[in-house]
Amino acid sequence: PDSQQGRLIKLHETTMRLYHHILMNTPAGESARRYLQKRGLTQELIDQFNLGYAPKEEVLKAVLEKEGHDYQLLRRSGLFTEDRSGSLHDRFHDRVMFPLKDGQGRPVAFSGRLLQKNTDAPKYLNSPETPIFNKRRLIFNFDLARKAARENGKLLLFEGYMDVISAYGAGVHNGIASMGTSLTDEQLAMIVKTTNQLNICYDGDAPGQNAIERALKLIEASAVASQLKIRVVQLPTGQDPDEYIQQNGGAKFRDYLKNTEETPTAFRLRYLRQGLNLSNQAELLSYLNAAIGVIAKVGDPVARDLYVQELAREFQVNPQNLQQQLTTQLQKQP
Ligand code: CTP
Ligand code: MN
Ligand code: MN
Ligand code: MN
Ligand code: MN
Repeated sequence: PDSQQGRLIKLHETTMRLYHHILMNTPAGESARRYLQKRGLTQELIDQFNLGYAPKEEVLKAVLEKEGHDYQLLRRSGLFTEDRSGSLHDRFHDRVMFPLKDGQGRPVAFSGRLLQKNTDAPKYLNSPETPIFNKRRLIFNFDLARKAARENGKLLLFEGYMDVISAYGAGVHNGIASMGTSLTDEQLAMIVKTTNQLNICYDGDAPGQNAIERALKLIEASAVASQLKIRVVQLPTGQDPDEYIQQNGGAKFRDYLKNTEETPTAFRLRYLRQGLNLSNQAELLSYLNAAIGVIAKVGDPVARDLYVQELAREFQVNPQNLQQQLTTQLQKQP
């Protein structure tokens, strides 16, 4: 507890309490309170995730110094910027604060969100890396989600913190998010220690879809690929999980998660044909060729056969010809 790490965590706990207090109990927190209310966050969720508000003026240094934390520790905490004279200034101003917690639920960093659109500043600002915060190893909500995963057998990967929090409010407690960057091998190793199924539920926009494809590639190339069953849940066009929940309610969201999960291959077959005009014969032929390429990567021959039959039925082509194309593709593979 007296190690540097222990002191840094203590400093983050104090900061988390201070930001939460400012959000809930002070006039300075009023705009942020209204913002969170407008976004549908209940008091219970705000408390569960220890959300807070970093005000416009500097508040942190005085409080932390009073608690006995020295200059060097404040410098290493990531919560300050340093000017040319070496003075420290609060890093976060006028932002809703999301504590980022480690696997034991201890706050090790923050992400701060702007209350309104601003083209000059990033929407989310994260703490920099510190002795207690490695963003490749942090999984948002891992502490709570791993407990839920023990009961329902899987983790659910979202893009954003707000998705995780809204899902939690909708009774879906096994949601996690990576740190805005794509999924890392370190996070995958942590996930595999917890569960053997991961459902990917990214935003229903083009960047979200592309991110699913990137995540699938990363997982397939990773050392833990064979230990993890992957499913994809694709949301309606343009919506992210939080927006879906705000619009349709928690019960609909839970049904949606249950009823629309598909295999990576099924997702890819749909992904491949986006924007194509399949009533055009040339485009259809090139799609079928690419689709066979995807199916050829499926390890299970029975599953391969099912996908071929489905494809043949859908486009009313002779399954034997598709099968032949598949055989040719398979022979080309190493
Ligand atoms: N992100 C980030 N910096 C940004 C934008 C996004 O770090 N400037 C990360 C955040 O972790 C965010 C995730 O990428 O949660 C997904 O981005 P996006 O879908 O744009 O944000 P939302 O989670 O939908 O956030 P909100 O609903 O608050 O707009
Ligand atoms: Mn509270
Ligand atoms: Mn997004
Ligand atoms: Mn989003
Ligand atoms: Mn969102």
